[in-house]
Amino acid sequence: MAEFKEAPAGANAGQKLLTWVDNRFPASKLYKEHLSEYYAPKNFNFMYFFGSLAMLVLVIQIVTGIFLVMHYKPDAALAFASVEYIMRDVPWGWLVRYMHSTGASAFFIVVYMHMFRGMLYGSYRKPRELVWIFGCAIFLCLMAEAFFGYLLPWGQMSYWGAQVIVNLFAAVPFVGPDLALLIRGDFVVSDATLNRFFSFHVIAIPLVLIGLVAAHIIALHEVGSNNPDGVEIKAKKDAEGRPLDGIPFHPYYTVHDIMGVSVFLLLFSAVVFLAPEMGGYFLEYNNFIPADPLKTPAHIAPVWYFTPYYSMLRATTDPMVNVFVVLVAIGAAVSLLLGGLSRNAKVVVAVSALVFIGLLKGFDAKFWGVVVMGGAVVIMFFLPWLDNSPVKSIRYRPGWHKWMYTVFAIDMLVLGYLGIKPPSDAGTLVSQIGTIFYFGFFLLMPFWSRIGEFKPVPERVVFQPH
Ligand code: HEM
Repeated sequence: MAEFKEAPAGANAGQKLLTWVDNRFPASKLYKEHLSEYYAPKNFNFMYFFGSLAMLVLVIQIVTGIFLVMHYKPDAALAFASVEYIMRDVPWGWLVRYMHSTGASAFFIVVYMHMFRGMLYGSYRKPRELVWIFGCAIFLCLMAEAFFGYLLPWGQMSYWGAQVIVNLFAAVPFVGPDLALLIRGDFVVSDATLNRFFSFHVIAIPLVLIGLVAAHIIALHEVGSNNPDGVEIKAKKDAEGRPLDGIPFHPYYTVHDIMGVSVFLLLFSAVVFLAPEMGGYFLEYNNFIPADPLKTPAHIAPVWYFTPYYSMLRATTDPMVNVFVVLVAIGAAVSLLLGGLSRNAKVVVAVSALVFIGLLKGFDAKFWGVVVMGGAVVIMFFLPWLDNSPVKSIRYRPGWHKWMYTVFAIDMLVLGYLGIKPPSDAGTLVSQIGTIFYFGFFLLMPFWSRIGEFKPVPERVVFQPH
């Protein structure tokens, strides 16, 4: 047991209370380690607002969610009406509900920006691999949370969206139909489905999410933050062991973050008060019609934040699977001819390529669509080991790398746009090209990330006070 400390002579009641607490719980120690003596690089830019904003949105979602649950009824016969009751009769219910629905989209905007920042500055690279992996797990949970939550208002889009996505699991070979049945708890989306989705949405996933966010921050504070220069500030310390380019998180970044929070809240309030449906993108118009299992809407599309992945799913048609076969064959041929592999390695490559091609042709394109959609998220986990660039930050990479990241961002936007639209021949072709670019970007990264002329990375961070 640690030795008990005495409050300093002449201490006031507050100091005495703190000493009493500190002797039993590491309050001051935690405050110092994570705020007043957590040294963050002094050159953070606006891209570093999004982590604290993600925490803010998490809190908004939990608090508004608690109030929604007070009035919501997780029952297929009552759910839709209970949401209308919240909107019309519960005092301030409309505000709570619009904050929660806008918060869902805001969460994804903030998290997508946060992830893209990590990609630009190489924040996933050694020693921050676990920070990134916890982040990817958070992203998966967030997707599950949004999917489960979307069924709860029991509108037409809730119902049919869930039907489409759960049916995807039925495409898994051998166990698919049983798996879909297990998820639904019935042969169609029904009251049983609503009950289990409610349970996952309000307690199971939020618990995991909060745990993962805690792990994410603990891992980050263990290794320290990266920055727009990708320079490790811990490499240069003063006589007291403080990083020369570091400033205490509190008060510098707590105050800095207030600016991000203010801008965010302005935009957030503008949507909540002036355009809560956001033209049908944040709240789909079809979802104001109660769920009707006998009437399939003409066009079913997920909410915007899922649509890049949905586009990839729709892009995986039979001809696209043939393109995959050709790409696997080319990949194998190139590594056999130019890879300088040993005899054994060549055999392994050839056999694996043949097995993979057999699997591609052996299973339905619908199944591969599900694999492509899931793979698009799973591949993010491996980013720390795919990037071989000698420098972390985009600032010191060759000019054409910047173009690669620009095209990647545009690709995601185009895929997202196409996923909202009804399918068309031209749209499918563009999504197929977009899907190939997406996977090419990651799978070929071990090669392209080291090619080009890199700029010298400075020893200290670059910072212009303003
Ligand atoms: C609920 C969601 C999330 C919350 C609350 C959250 C919170 C935070 C916070 C507060 C920071 C430190 C401040 C900052 O660097 O902006 C941070 C850093 C970081 N996060 Fe997240 N995060 C979330 C999701 C994600 C996701 C989905 C990823 C990636 C897949 C991710 C990857 C990272 C990385 C790599 C860093 C270190 C950045 C650096 O030092 O340059 N985070 N996160």
